[in-house]
Amino acid sequence: MFEKVFIIGLGLIGGSIAYDIKDRGLAKMVAGYDINNSNLSVAKSLGLINTALPIEDLSDFDLIIISVPVGDIPKIYKKIASSLSEGTIVIDTGSVKKFVLDAVSKIKSKAFFIPCHPIAGIENNGPHAALRGLFNNKNVIITTDDRGSDVEKIIKFWKSLGSYPVLMDATEHDKIIAVMSHLPHVIAYSLVDSTIEDAEIPKFMGGGMADFTRIACSSPKMWRDIFVYNKEYVLFAIDKYEKSLCKLKTRIKKGTGIMEFLSRVQSAKLSHKRDRQLIIAVDGPSGAGKSSVSREIANRLGFLYIDSGALYRTKACIVDLDIKKLAFENYNGKWNLFYNGKNIDNLIRSEAAGKSASDMAKNTKVRNEINELIYRMVGNDSAVVEGRDMGTKVFPNAVLKLFLDAPIDVRAKRRKKDDCNATKEQMENRDIQDTERSAAPLVPAKDAVYIDTSASYKSVVKMINSIVVRTIH
Ligand code: C5P
Repeated sequence: MFEKVFIIGLGLIGGSIAYDIKDRGLAKMVAGYDINNSNLSVAKSLGLINTALPIEDLSDFDLIIISVPVGDIPKIYKKIASSLSEGTIVIDTGSVKKFVLDAVSKIKSKAFFIPCHPIAGIENNGPHAALRGLFNNKNVIITTDDRGSDVEKIIKFWKSLGSYPVLMDATEHDKIIAVMSHLPHVIAYSLVDSTIEDAEIPKFMGGGMADFTRIACSSPKMWRDIFVYNKEYVLFAIDKYEKSLCKLKTRIKKGTGIMEFLSRVQSAKLSHKRDRQLIIAVDGPSGAGKSSVSREIANRLGFLYIDSGALYRTKACIVDLDIKKLAFENYNGKWNLFYNGKNIDNLIRSEAAGKSASDMAKNTKVRNEINELIYRMVGNDSAVVEGRDMGTKVFPNAVLKLFLDAPIDVRAKRRKKDDCNATKEQMENRDIQDTERSAAPLVPAKDAVYIDTSASYKSVVKMINSIVVRTIH
């Protein structure tokens, strides 16, 4: 799609774009620059960019992506504008558009600037936080009146990252985003600020507070700029919010009307939620941590949990299986598989059962039968489904696809700790069998977020939770 792409700012957004450009072969080479030298060397070592270059002469590049805090976008553009060639397209990824549009329109250049805002991200920053597939299923707002071939090309570019490009007026964008993104950050920062003095609080932090704290961990420089350059609409949103807060405060003070207030908000939110079924697909080899992560997400969101591997195992263990008698039930806080009312989780967990399941899973007839069962179990509900082909075959339209993986030694060690009798060799053989079979082989879906789970369970879950929260809200 492009010959040479240059990314200025290799943080979460710039770095994630770099991953996707490389993974999807959208450019022959990707070069980059970051004001922070250590970010630059991390980006190089992660393979986000082919080479690091200064930004003096970018005449050779046909796409430039400026992914820096909003206030710095015009400064960077001013610096590079005179060196750019005819036909070069420049895009930014900032969260405020009118300020950027006004500022860059005053800067002369042969290049064409197209303001973009991908509505994606998590609170982590820096190139380490970059994620494959971050823009999949996300809106990208493009604020230009132009409908020429360059804009068409940028629309195509975002579509190849799995995003939904939306064309919008810059002021309209700033008004909407002030409410939908900037206000929640104002609230999170101020809420956490109001509790800082309280030394006891972190010890007793519940899920709600943890969500606010997570948001308040976002980059201060990035959010300072957003609040400064979208001041008018952020203040407008805060005014409206203050009114709601006062309304609730008064009701709490008087002790009346609280129920009506809460119920009205709840039903508005629920009717929005009920509109759509959300499927989260989690795939990967055994020992990658799929089950723990999937159970955690399902419990947290109140979604159904389906372990398709357990269904293949059951098919391999029980002769004349009547699949209508199977159900996942919450047993002591864990999802176990029950057959005819009997907990069969222990029965199906041996490595021998895993191997027989893998043998059986090559058979397309068995796969169709299990898939039918999964569809029946899920119905119209939202669910977290885990297995080998959930994102590629069974739920290709899942709202979020995760592919969990880890080096074989890490996975084998985990299995040993789980008290499972699988050896490293057995696991490797099963990996090969699952990956190389012709029916629904184990491969990451093109639009899956690939996650190496070698890090601590806590940090993996933290990262996945923030991806999930961003995706479904
Ligand atoms: O995940 P688990 O180890 O329980 O799965 C057992 C076997 O079932 C796998 O090795 C794989 O061959 C098969 N399977 C599959 N497709 C799925 C889930 C599991 O082929 N969606």
